[in-house]
Amino acid sequence: MQANSATMPPDALLSPYPPHPPLLPHPPLLQPLIALQRVHKQFDNGLQALSDVSLSVAPGEFVALLGPSGCGKSTVLRLAAGLDAASSGTVQAPALLPGRTSETAYVFQEPTLLPWASVFDNVWLPLRLQGRSRADAAATVRQVLARVGLADFEQAYPAALSGGMKMRASIARALVTQPRVLLMDEPFAALDDITRQKLNADLLQWWHGRLMAALFVTHSVAEAVFLSQRVLVMAPRPGRVVAELVIPQPYPRSADFRHSSAFADACRAVGAALSEAHDGPARQLPMAGLR
Ligand SMILES: Nc1ncnc2c1ncn2[C@@H]1O[C@H](COP(=O)(O)OP(=O)(O)OP(=O)(O)O)[C@@H](O)[C@H]1O
Ligand SMILES: [Mg+2]
Repeated sequence: MQANSATMPPDALLSPYPPHPPLLPHPPLLQPLIALQRVHKQFDNGLQALSDVSLSVAPGEFVALLGPSGCGKSTVLRLAAGLDAASSGTVQAPALLPGRTSETAYVFQEPTLLPWASVFDNVWLPLRLQGRSRADAAATVRQVLARVGLADFEQAYPAALSGGMKMRASIARALVTQPRVLLMDEPFAALDDITRQKLNADLLQWWHGRLMAALFVTHSVAEAVFLSQRVLVMAPRPGRVVAELVIPQPYPRSADFRHSSAFADACRAVGAALSEAHDGPARQLPMAGLR
């Protein structure tokens, strides 16, 4: 299932935004792991954060959420993580099912590592909360640390790590439970461009082939296009999905993709949808003076 015009609620079709056709038809999908249907979210102070949001993410799908500040991206993630409840509509996700909370991993912009614990102990933490002893978890922790390139830093403390290394440790902690749902809220926003691009490429390797459902929030058009199969563009006041664009480039994606015309085309299309989300649809300007 995907949030295309066939599955969008009827009101969405009344949106002033012109439809953005997918660049190519989407391949068939497995049953979604995350599904929001006609979700509204109003906070206690009366603020309408989400209006009629419908979206889904299937196992093995990588979906990006892009949109201006305050349009409700983090709110969507919080609903999918079971950290908050919808005011109306339905939210389906493993995090909302009893006994399945460990299937969801949440990575924040800040690495949120425990400063007094070593990298090893930080990554062990989720397994420890599941009752696994240090000795029992050691092989798994080391395997994940190797996967994120931190094998030599298991004894280091967060204060001794660079921003990129902290984020690697944070992602290792997210991956150590082998989650089925990976929710990421601007995880690389604080990093320099080169580190960010390297982590983008590595993230795809960690995700690819594991049938994880990834929902990734970003403000970067290029990051959304490089990583995802679908980009959902949201607009604010109230937060809603105004465009869905399919990025047909197959995985694995290498750095070459960034330099391809397909990448430039997709960035242009996503960028145009994002501009509309910021400013509203482009208006036809009067041409009288030019005749
Ligand atoms: N607990 C809350 N109580 C009241 N309003 C809230 C609460 N959490 C978020 N909001 C409001 O809901 C709207 C959506 O917030 P959200 O954090 O989801 O936006 P966002 O798209 O993630 O923004 P950003 O890109 O800046 O992170 C904003 O107007 C925000 O002020
Ligand atoms: Mg946010």
